[in-house]
Amino acid sequence: MSAYEFTDHVYDVVVVGAGGAGLRATLGMAEQGLRTACISKVFPTRSHTVAAQGGIAASLGNMGPDSWKWHMYDTVKGSDWLGDTDAMEYLAREAPKAVYELEHYGVPFSRTEEGKIYQRPFGGHTTEFGEGPPVQRTCAAADRTGHAILHTLYGQSLKQQAEFYIEYFATDLIMSEDGVCQGVIAWKLDDGTMHRFSAKTVVLATGGYGRAFFSATSAHTCTGDGGGMVARQGLALQDMEFVQFHPTGIYGAGCLITEGARGEGGYLTNSEGERFMERYAPTYKDLASRDVVSRCMTMEIREGRGVGKEGDHIHLHLDHLPAEALAERLPGISESARIFAGVDVTKEPIPVLPTVHYNMGGIPTNYWGQVLNPTAENPDAIVPGLMAVGEAGCASVHGANRLGSNSLIDLVVFGRAAAIKAGEVVDPNAANPDMNPASVEKAMDRFDAMRNASGETPTAELRLDMQKAMQADAAVFRTDKSLAEGVDKMTVIAGRMSDLKVTDRSMIWNSDLMETLELANLMPNALATVVAAEARKESRGAHAHEDYPDRDDVNWRVHSLATVDDSTVTLRTRPVHLDPLSTADEGGIDLAKIAPKKRVY
Ligand code: FUM
Repeated sequence: MSAYEFTDHVYDVVVVGAGGAGLRATLGMAEQGLRTACISKVFPTRSHTVAAQGGIAASLGNMGPDSWKWHMYDTVKGSDWLGDTDAMEYLAREAPKAVYELEHYGVPFSRTEEGKIYQRPFGGHTTEFGEGPPVQRTCAAADRTGHAILHTLYGQSLKQQAEFYIEYFATDLIMSEDGVCQGVIAWKLDDGTMHRFSAKTVVLATGGYGRAFFSATSAHTCTGDGGGMVARQGLALQDMEFVQFHPTGIYGAGCLITEGARGEGGYLTNSEGERFMERYAPTYKDLASRDVVSRCMTMEIREGRGVGKEGDHIHLHLDHLPAEALAERLPGISESARIFAGVDVTKEPIPVLPTVHYNMGGIPTNYWGQVLNPTAENPDAIVPGLMAVGEAGCASVHGANRLGSNSLIDLVVFGRAAAIKAGEVVDPNAANPDMNPASVEKAMDRFDAMRNASGETPTAELRLDMQKAMQADAAVFRTDKSLAEGVDKMTVIAGRMSDLKVTDRSMIWNSDLMETLELANLMPNALATVVAAEARKESRGAHAHEDYPDRDDVNWRVHSLATVDDSTVTLRTRPVHLDPLSTADEGGIDLAKIAPKKRVY
């Protein structure tokens, strides 16, 4: 029996995570009168969405012609034909509505002369189904768009009486014997108390797992907590092999320099001062999709045309742009470049390098955010009572590669969709079911074992080994050899979780234990990533496999599913949804427009 005492809480909905998706879901639930709690391990406005810079994609057409169908086409092509067609249609169609809602909630968007929301170009966003010039589709609040959204959604959620549990770390899901999610257990970091949250629906909005890698634009809090919780229930993670490298992380520091910098006219050069993207992507150049740009930069460096003493990075120029434009449109990255690279962007180029930025894979869901437990008979079977949204989830709208600024719109469209679905399926008048004591006890046994871990390996040491292995072997370019080595290394590293040493046994502000629990969440995410990457014998989107350089739609236009049990990963597949929500006759996209073809920019 667990020696821990609990404080009990009862809600209709508990949202875990207070980034853009978590807050949009929380707000939508509370607006409908559902008793809603939001649990966050950090203060909500410190969630990683605060670092999102360049903007949020929606076909408002404020700067020139645009259409949701062009946005959908670009998303399909960006996904390298792995995204689910229904989810991609939902995203592109709902995006304008979701952005206008944000505007009405009070997000301080930058404005055009006429007072409309300002939109900038971003990579891979085009007109005329990829036949026309780049489109200005990315709605921006200078280069602090995520910051603006997060503050607005937090204020609105408070106004709707959502209840926040701040600096509570959710450790595990509570599941019934027959697989219904009944709630979540959380540890209150500042006083060491344990809490049991009963909920008719739990929404995981815990973000990505960028910190499985050595160099990432992600905050240190991005530890794949939702994926870890789901994996521990024996549920699958989807498309984990697809990890996005953002072309412009600051060399050495890893901090993000927004793609909006290239959207505003910035460009990349190699050691010969050449604008090399013109060679690789003659039409869209520096505004090609980010997986393409990251690969081109890596090739330039490999072929000896990198810049700097070691020839190991690339230059991003903004120094030709007017200083007033930089101050108005890109103040945040101008400051980051000064602080982290010692560069005055009005005079010198910024040293940059492709850096891990986003996980396309995650907890499989439908486009309402309901978590899937795919079976052979029903690949779309849902887990009752469990949802996942934002980077933690995989709807799958980004497929093998996400377009820049499709992340913020994913957060709000699917956070909102989860609230709409919860409004249909959660009965506020029904009683909460009793929580399964066996599930609670299992979770607390794990917590206690971690707290008292008395092996030989400090958490920081094992985490670093994992990060280095992932960085080396699940990189921008992959080979059979690098991936096989990655699987071997990561299997050994995951096996060493049983040898962890936690030195602080206290319950209050125990960062040693907290980081160990986070490592236990990172590990299944990392392992699933490298194992699924090793198995996928093709190149698609962010998965650039040098031994299989072509996309193979016959054998590999499928989602991968990875179930992780300690250091063992079992793989299977799930079909991609090929049907849209509406036919061309009903006003939907002409399917011929999104038929698979070679992906060039
Ligand atoms: O470059 C950026 O501002 C990042 C945006 C995104 O990842 O969507």
